[in-house]
Amino acid sequence: MLDFEPPVHGMIGSCPQMLELFRRIRKVAQTNSTVLINGESGTGKELVARAIHNLSSRQGQEMISVNCAAIPENLIESELFGHEKGSFTGATATRTGLVEAADASTLFLDEIGELPLEAQARLLRVLQENEIRKVGSVQSKKVDVRLVAATHRDLKQLVIDGHFREDLYYRINVMTLLIPPLRDRGNDILELADAILQRTCTRLKTAMLTFGGSASRAIANYTWPGNVRELENAIERAVVLAESSEIGEELLAIENEISDAEPVAVGANVTPITAEPVEELSLEDYFQRFVIEHQDAMNETQLAKKLGISRKCLWERRQRFGIPRKKKQAV
Ligand SMILES: Nc1ncnc2c1ncn2[C@@H]1O[C@H](COP(=O)(O)OP(=O)(O)O)[C@@H](O)[C@H]1O
Ligand SMILES: [Mg+2]
Repeated sequence: MLDFEPPVHGMIGSCPQMLELFRRIRKVAQTNSTVLINGESGTGKELVARAIHNLSSRQGQEMISVNCAAIPENLIESELFGHEKGSFTGATATRTGLVEAADASTLFLDEIGELPLEAQARLLRVLQENEIRKVGSVQSKKVDVRLVAATHRDLKQLVIDGHFREDLYYRINVMTLLIPPLRDRGNDILELADAILQRTCTRLKTAMLTFGGSASRAIANYTWPGNVRELENAIERAVVLAESSEIGEELLAIENEISDAEPVAVGANVTPITAEPVEELSLEDYFQRFVIEHQDAMNETQLAKKLGISRKCLWERRQRFGIPRKKKQAV
């Protein structure tokens, strides 16, 4: 594969920062070095971790992926490192942790900045000694794990504030890959938007849609604080709501704020979009309204299908937006 080609299928980018990122991914993939991926939420950190794994000699094994922010603090040590039977109330059997499960493979620790301090101490030991010790065990075991960590936070600042161990920070900060925010990627934004639009139409089995001029301009000028994930959501929503083959700006429901950055050229004449107060319906509002209106008439599978998302995603969004499922719909 050439240096400037994306390291994984479907990963889009041709601005200089992304090409440099691809080059680095390819380089680090061939080593066993710990990698720290830093970037705002939705910039593609997980995609990069997967690329590193898939291009490495460990590709034959499954990458073990753990989101440190998603596991309750009192369970995380046992989840990651395992525990001995009887080591705490509820530990009714010996359990293998995820670090051990990643033996001979890659361990992807997402949101590593959220790892509690005690778990950080155990992780340091894994990195220093290549050894793992279960909670409540006196014995340790050798493991061969390649660590890829990601965070949207400034780890250095967490160290200064006393939330992250300095020694672990230096262990992890061997090779840092910085993923630029979407708003700094120039024309990549429109390239991504077009590709995501195609992908979404195919997935939702709709006719192929295109962006109208105003929609493209709005996409290019918006700051995308939620990065590629927000772009995907906005497009998914527009595809669901579209009533003609051309997507207008209003369907994207992005705030009409103009970024401080220079507007990206779309076509020849660039007129910055003006901030007209449209009836604003955010993706969250739309989702909530849709679910509340239709949940009595549809089951979860139908709802998810109509929204163009997976059932798992529907469940996650219900949790996030606080619209729990009605009791009558048994699992
Ligand atoms: N360069 C890219 N090309 C195509 N899709 C991307 C790119 N970067 C991110 N995505 C998509 O955006 C979404 C968010 O990416 P993800 O890796 O989960 O971000 P993060 O972990 O940084 O929050 C995913 O659906 C991912 O496939
Ligand atoms: Mg992520």
